[in-house]
Amino acid sequence: MIRFIFIASLLIFSCSKKNIHINTSIIPKPVSQTINNGVFNLAEKIEIIYDSSFVNEVEYLKSNFPIKEGSNQNFIRIKKNSLLQEEEYKLLIRTNEVIINASTARGAMHAIQSLRQLLPNKIKKHQKNIPIKCMEIHDYPKFKWRGLLLDCCRHFMEKEFVKKYIDLLAYHKMNILHWHLTEDQGWRIAIEKYPNLTETGAWRKDENGSIYGGFYNKQDIQEIIEYASKRHIEIIPEIELPGHSVAAIASYPYLSCTGKKIDVETDWGVFKDIYCAGNDSVFTFLEDVLSEVTELFPSEYIHIGGDEAPKYRWENCKKCQKRINENKLKDEHELQSYFINRIGKFLEKKGKKIIGWDEIIEGGIPHNAVIQSWRGVEGGLTAAKNKHYAIMSPTSHCYFDYDLQAINLEKVYSFNPIPTSLDSNKHKYILGGECNMWSERAPQEKVDSKVFPRILAMSEVLWGEKENNYEDFLKRVENHYNKLERLGVEYGYEKTPIKFNSKYNQNRFDVEIEKGNNNMQIRYKINNDSWKKYTKPIKIFNSSKIIAQEENSKRKEIATKSLEIELHKGIGKSVNYNSTYNPNYPATGLQTLVNGISGDKSNFRDGQWQGFYGDDIDVVIDLKEITTFNELKTSYFQYHLSWIILPKSVEYLISNNGKEFTSIYKSKNISNPMKEGKFKESYVFQKNYSARYVRVIAKNYGNLPQEHPAAGSKSWLFIDEFSVK
Ligand code: ACM
Ligand code: ZN
Repeated sequence: MIRFIFIASLLIFSCSKKNIHINTSIIPKPVSQTINNGVFNLAEKIEIIYDSSFVNEVEYLKSNFPIKEGSNQNFIRIKKNSLLQEEEYKLLIRTNEVIINASTARGAMHAIQSLRQLLPNKIKKHQKNIPIKCMEIHDYPKFKWRGLLLDCCRHFMEKEFVKKYIDLLAYHKMNILHWHLTEDQGWRIAIEKYPNLTETGAWRKDENGSIYGGFYNKQDIQEIIEYASKRHIEIIPEIELPGHSVAAIASYPYLSCTGKKIDVETDWGVFKDIYCAGNDSVFTFLEDVLSEVTELFPSEYIHIGGDEAPKYRWENCKKCQKRINENKLKDEHELQSYFINRIGKFLEKKGKKIIGWDEIIEGGIPHNAVIQSWRGVEGGLTAAKNKHYAIMSPTSHCYFDYDLQAINLEKVYSFNPIPTSLDSNKHKYILGGECNMWSERAPQEKVDSKVFPRILAMSEVLWGEKENNYEDFLKRVENHYNKLERLGVEYGYEKTPIKFNSKYNQNRFDVEIEKGNNNMQIRYKINNDSWKKYTKPIKIFNSSKIIAQEENSKRKEIATKSLEIELHKGIGKSVNYNSTYNPNYPATGLQTLVNGISGDKSNFRDGQWQGFYGDDIDVVIDLKEITTFNELKTSYFQYHLSWIILPKSVEYLISNNGKEFTSIYKSKNISNPMKEGKFKESYVFQKNYSARYVRVIAKNYGNLPQEHPAAGSKSWLFIDEFSVK
C-alpha cells in the first residue's frame, strides 16, 4: 500500500514537471489565443496536407521541425483561405491534427513560426512524440513595417550571421531587414563597375596598424536575398548619400569637393568629406552603383540615407556653389534636396521608391519618398501630415546601440510608433517601426546582447495591440530565453544589470544596488577591502569607491560597475540654473551637481553627466547659511567626436545675498577641440573663503572649428558635480 502511494505521487510529479516544458507563450503575443485541453503529439512521421501555394512553407516546416513526411494518424494541414488578409493566419491545434489557415504564404509562415515557438523547451535527441498544447490562435499584425537595421559597415558581419538574424526576425514575425551597406568606415557591397569600392573602401587601417574589413560579393548577396525571401523577410539595402561616404571617396577621390586622397575612416562620428553635389560625374557614379544595386535587390524600396551630411565642403566648393546658383537654390539644405530628388527620380525610372532619414525633408520633402524618423518623431509626423509614408525609429526608443540605461526593455515596450498628435485619418501613413543596430561599439559578437531581449518588445509593439502589461510580457520574455538559447542567441539584460541608488542622509550615503534581473547575485567591495556578498544597502561615511559585480552569470558578459562618492558641503543643497541643460542629457536633474556622485571618466552617458548644447553653464549653489570652505571643484568631459568639448573658461564666484557676486577664480583658454579620446578634466580652486552662495560660470566652446569633422556645428559642454569642501 505504501509502495503504491509512493509510485502514484511520483507519477503526478513527473506529469506536472512535463507540463512545465510545454510552451504556450508566443512573442509577439497573438491577437487571440485560447488554450484547450489535451496535447497534439508531433511524431517523427507526420502527414502534411497542403495547398500547392505553400510548397516553400512545407519545405521550411520539414527542415525546422524534428519530423519527416510520412503516413501517420497525425496530420498537419495547411489550407488556403482567401477570406483572410495578407499576413493573417489561423492555427488550430487538436489532439490529432494541426490546421493552418492563411490566404498567403506569408500568413502560413507566421503560423509555422507560432508553432515553432510552441515546441517544448527541451526535446531529447530521439524523442518519439513531442507534445504541443492544444489551442486556437487567430492572429494578424497591426503595422506592416516591422524592421531591424543591421549596420554591417562599422563592424563587418559575416554572411552566416546575417542569415541567423533573418531567421530570428522571421521567428518573431518581423519582416524587414534594413541592411546598412555603405559608410565612412567601410563599403561592403561589391560593385562590378567600381572595383576600388571593395578593394580599397572595404578595408581600414586600425590604430594598431592592423587591417579590418570585409565585403559581400554578388553571390553572397544573392544567397542572402534568397534565404530571406524563403522566410518572407524583405531586405532593404541602404546606400548612403550624400554623407557617410568617406569609404567611397577613399576609393575614388574625384567624388569629393576637394578631390584629395583620404583614407577610409577609422574613428566614429560625422565627417565633413561628402559627395560633391556640383560634379556630374558623382551622379554618374551613383547611378551606376544604384543600377547594380537595383538589379540585385528585388525590394520595392532603396534606402538612400541622407542623414548627417555636414555642409562645410559644399559651402566652400566652387562647383557646389555654381549648382546652387544655376538651380536658384536658397542654400546648402536645398542643394541636399536637389541631390536627393535627382537620385530619387533616377530610382523611380528603375521602378524603385526611396526611403531616407528625416534630414531629407529639410529642403522640402522629396517626391514619393518614405521618411524614416530618427531624430525624434517629428520628421515622421511632418511626413504623415503631408501624406508621405513614414517609418518610426526615434533614438528615444529604437536605438539598440544605446546602453540599457538609456533604453531598457520596458522603454522599448512603451514605444508607440504613432505620434499622439497625429490625426487618426493620417495614421495610415505610419507604416511601422524599426529598431536600429548601429555597430560602432558592437562588433558581431556583441550584437546579440544589444538586440536581445529588446527586439522582443519591439516585435510585440509592432505586431499588435499590446495590452501594456509589462509584467506579463516580462514573464513571457523569461520563458523565451530557453528558446533563444536553442537558437544560439547570447542575449543581454532587460535593464542595467547593476545600478546604484544612493541617498544622502545627514552624514552618510545609503547605497542600494539595484539588479537588472531578479535572479542575479551581486558581490561588492569598498576601496581596497575584500569582496562581500550584497544583501542590503551599504552605509558609506567617507568619500569612497564602490565596485559591484555580478556572480554566477548565465550571460556571456560579467556585469561590473563602480560608484565614486565624494562627500562635500554642497550635497543636497539647492541649485539655481541661470542657463539650461539639454533635456536629452539631464543626468539626475536639478540635484545632479550636488548629489556627491562623480561622472564616469570614460562614459558621458552614465547618468551623472549633465549636457549643455551650445550653451554656457551658469549655476549657483545656495548653501543656506554662510559657510567656510577651502576648495571649489568642477569637472568636465571631452570627447570631440561626439562634439563634447571642455569649456573655454571656468570662473568661480561667491556672494552672500545671491545678487552681487565676486569673482574669485578664473581659468581661461582651456579648450582644445581637436584633442582626441574620452577624458575628464577638473578645475580646482583652493583657498579659505566664507560665503552663502557659490557660483560657477563655464563658457561653452561655441561652434566647432574648421578642422573638426563637424565644423560649424554647436558643441556640447558636460559637467558632473560642483563640490564645495
Ligand atoms: C542615424 O542614426 N544617423 C540615422
Ligand atoms: Zn562640391
